[in-house]
Amino acid sequence: MSLENPQRYTVTAALIYANGPIHIGHLAGCYLPADIYVRYLRATGKDVAFISGTDEHGVPITIRAKKEGLTPQQVVDKYYGQIKQAFADFGISFDIYSRTSSPIHHQTSQAFFTTLYDKGDFDEEVTEQYYDEVANQFLADRYIVGTCPVCGNPGAYGDQCERCGTALSPLELIDPHSTLSGSKPVLRQTRNWNLPLDRMQPAIENFVNGHPEWKTNVLGQCQSWLKEGLRPRAMTRDLDWGVSVPLPDAEGKVLYVWFDAPIGYISMTKEWAAQQGRDWELYWRDDHSKLVHFIGKDNIVFHCIIFPAMLMAEGSFILPDNVPANEFMNLEGDKISTSRNWAVWLHEYLDELPGKQDVLRYVLAANAPETKDSEFTWKDFQTRNNAELVGIFGNFVNRAVVLTQKFCDNRVPVRGDLTDYDRSVLDELAQFPDRIGQSIEQYRFREALGHLIDLARLGNKYLAETEPWKVIKTDPARVHTILNLALQIAANLAIVSEPFLPFTARKLCDQLRIQDRLDWQNAGRADLLVAGHELGQSELLFAKIEDEEINKQIQKLQNAKRMNELETKTVPPLRDEITYDDFAKMDIRIGTITEAERVPKSDKLLKLKVDDGMGGRQILSGIAKHFSPEEIIGKQVTFLANLAPRKMMGFESQGMILMAEDRDGKLALIAPGDVVWNGGTVS
Ligand code: 2FM
Ligand code: ZN
Repeated sequence: MSLENPQRYTVTAALIYANGPIHIGHLAGCYLPADIYVRYLRATGKDVAFISGTDEHGVPITIRAKKEGLTPQQVVDKYYGQIKQAFADFGISFDIYSRTSSPIHHQTSQAFFTTLYDKGDFDEEVTEQYYDEVANQFLADRYIVGTCPVCGNPGAYGDQCERCGTALSPLELIDPHSTLSGSKPVLRQTRNWNLPLDRMQPAIENFVNGHPEWKTNVLGQCQSWLKEGLRPRAMTRDLDWGVSVPLPDAEGKVLYVWFDAPIGYISMTKEWAAQQGRDWELYWRDDHSKLVHFIGKDNIVFHCIIFPAMLMAEGSFILPDNVPANEFMNLEGDKISTSRNWAVWLHEYLDELPGKQDVLRYVLAANAPETKDSEFTWKDFQTRNNAELVGIFGNFVNRAVVLTQKFCDNRVPVRGDLTDYDRSVLDELAQFPDRIGQSIEQYRFREALGHLIDLARLGNKYLAETEPWKVIKTDPARVHTILNLALQIAANLAIVSEPFLPFTARKLCDQLRIQDRLDWQNAGRADLLVAGHELGQSELLFAKIEDEEINKQIQKLQNAKRMNELETKTVPPLRDEITYDDFAKMDIRIGTITEAERVPKSDKLLKLKVDDGMGGRQILSGIAKHFSPEEIIGKQVTFLANLAPRKMMGFESQGMILMAEDRDGKLALIAPGDVVWNGGTVS
């Protein structure tokens, strides 16, 4: 069961690989819910450490380096800064955002390994693994490609066939070859250290079964792994990028990235605590601390089974209290994909929709993939902005503030006697903070956000029903009461919206001139603003988003799709190889077209007269669909002069015009004006 009344919280968000920029799927799946949770905890006065950073080891980094022609170090240096900035721009309020390349991390993960090694927790195992004799290295699964034994895909990886989805081991591949050198790898013996997850299964089962409160999607994955039966897993790898294995006879070996990465949470907590003059151990070793890991669904087994197993084996750390993993977010009906550029990149979003961080936070939280995969569409983004943020939240606050300016000299008016209706509204108001808080504590962020917008709805309804703009003519005192209450609702919104919409909450506080931080404990009260308090300048919290802006975004995605289709368009197989001698037989010359006419009864052929400097010749060419006779007369062309003459539609053709074809099948002339040319024949 979950820890009751924790004294402090250690909240982590997945250490994303520093191998590319981040997109909305990352934000929705992991970082936004984590941030909402942490901001709420802080508002309720809790002691929280919010820890994250980049995962800078493992094959994903080395693969990226190879693709970009950089060293792994250059790759992680490039993306660490970008990723950190994107999170900061969207208000993700980590206490520390560090990196697994830091010295403290190397030292902490090595010490962790040594503790397990010294306790005899690892089984040493010698296995045969593929080795690239040209590149002189053992090959990680992703570096081996071969034919899938299940579907025959010739490009299956050593760990998985991406065509049929089968999980593979490199030894199962037919005709394997190394992606590093292209050579055929050989099997070589290597020694590694395994965590005996098989023997640890009862303890892990006990741990997982002790958490029936975990999300069903998380428990479901755990149960399926446990049902399959856990297998020992190597915690070291033969790779030249990562944290070195701290053993004297382990040259060329590094810690398995999924061993070192989660220890990053501990090392980053240490780093943060040192900066803050705090005791890191309280956050990892005190039973009254609650450890919560926010991740995406692809990381479930590592956080619910493997890392807890490591922590249990080590023995001095607390175990995760909860792992509220989300499913994935799709985009406009398709899976988000970095390689296909099917994504909304955070840095591009901010360039194109500046100042709209909270709109994205709102839409992503409202559609968060909490229980199943969800969908982001630009139309929904627009509707939620215009109907909910502008139409409900912004509209209510604006009316309350503008009416106060107009009727009450921009000061919080004095409240008179309350009607029954006023009291019922205040009663309802009082229930919102708990309602929102409980949803957040149960990791139900969509529901929590729904309650938040309901509070703004309550305010809108109150103004619509009390109609202060009409009552002012007959009963100004009543209007003062109404606006006093409306402003109290607005002040409450400033508190309870902060975890979701921190930029808006700040703006709202400025408008209401609330200087001190308002704690969650104060929320629900109807005396947050005292009579006579002067408000600040009114300013719209949200702006309507027009079709034009949305269409631009949709168009951008369509362009990405088109580019992708072009790139993946199947190329017809090459014809049989020819020798140089075959090629040298061709006599390729330049000539000028002097006459051109269509061939009767043919929609393809043009009959051309070509001045070849040798008295001229007639050539029939199948280009009538691409060029009109008029436009081609006078053009220089390249032609094959020694092609055996042949008859076409009753006319003899003495050669062949050479053309180039682009990706769309459009033909272009190859002529001196188009190519670098020194005269003479093409050779
Ligand atoms: O999936 C990923 O991007 C991994 N780098 C997440 C690691 S989370 C933790 F274990 F560090
Ligand atoms: Zn396959």
